[in-house]
Amino acid sequence: MNILIIGDIVGKPGRAILKAMLSKIQRENDISFTIANAENAAGGRGLTQEIKDDLIGMGIDVLTMGNHVWDNKNIFNFIDDEPRLIRPINYPGDCPGQGMHIYKAGFNKNIAVINASGRVYMPALDCPFQTINEVVNDIKDQVDFIIVDFHAEATSEKMALAHYLDGRVTVLVGTHTHIQTADERILPQGTAYITDLGMTGPVDSILGMAKGPIIDKFLNARPARFEVATGPAQMQGVVLQLDEENNKATHIERFSYYLGD
Ligand SMILES: [Fe+2]
Repeated sequence: MNILIIGDIVGKPGRAILKAMLSKIQRENDISFTIANAENAAGGRGLTQEIKDDLIGMGIDVLTMGNHVWDNKNIFNFIDDEPRLIRPINYPGDCPGQGMHIYKAGFNKNIAVINASGRVYMPALDCPFQTINEVVNDIKDQVDFIIVDFHAEATSEKMALAHYLDGRVTVLVGTHTHIQTADERILPQGTAYITDLGMTGPVDSILGMAKGPIIDKFLNARPARFEVATGPAQMQGVVLQLDEENNKATHIERFSYYLGD
């Protein structure tokens, strides 16, 4: 069974390239399950019901989030009633939404998807290592595959979590930096890993946002209003092969597609 995991969707250009290319990529790679990080899908910040429905309508099965999950208040209208939306599991206390959900895919397989946020150069949430460890121990006998989207800034934190969970989760992908890393591989105990999936959004940008205000902020250290950049878009992520006989990941391959101007 092949699955597709798509890097952070940024604004309208990110949604436009998905509309143009997603179904063709799914067909060509014989994809049975698609996950995408959508925390920047609504104007670069958060997610709305309309955009969530649009992305799911394009053929995405699960949307994961990150530190921008609460940026658009519209999410509070639907996060409790949408099983296809996962927010970081390590928010403390009684938090709206869910951080893990189990889906059916392929030949009647149970796939758990977990989203977590890092803590290095990120808001201080509960420990992602201990939180995921507990969840994995709870669900391991009920599921065939476990996929983790670890939304984190530091490469060391992502790599450490992947090695900590190696052999106990099927796939761990990093998101958040919007820069795709060239280190996809199967770890020694069998977990498929990439430090960052990259970005699905405007190419001529700084992490998806218009360049001017970001450069100004570095120059003058004053607050600036960031807008999603315009122009040609890219779509990045990975295609994974999962073996349905032994429930292991057998191959991980990154992709980077461009939509012309
Ligand atoms: Fe993020």
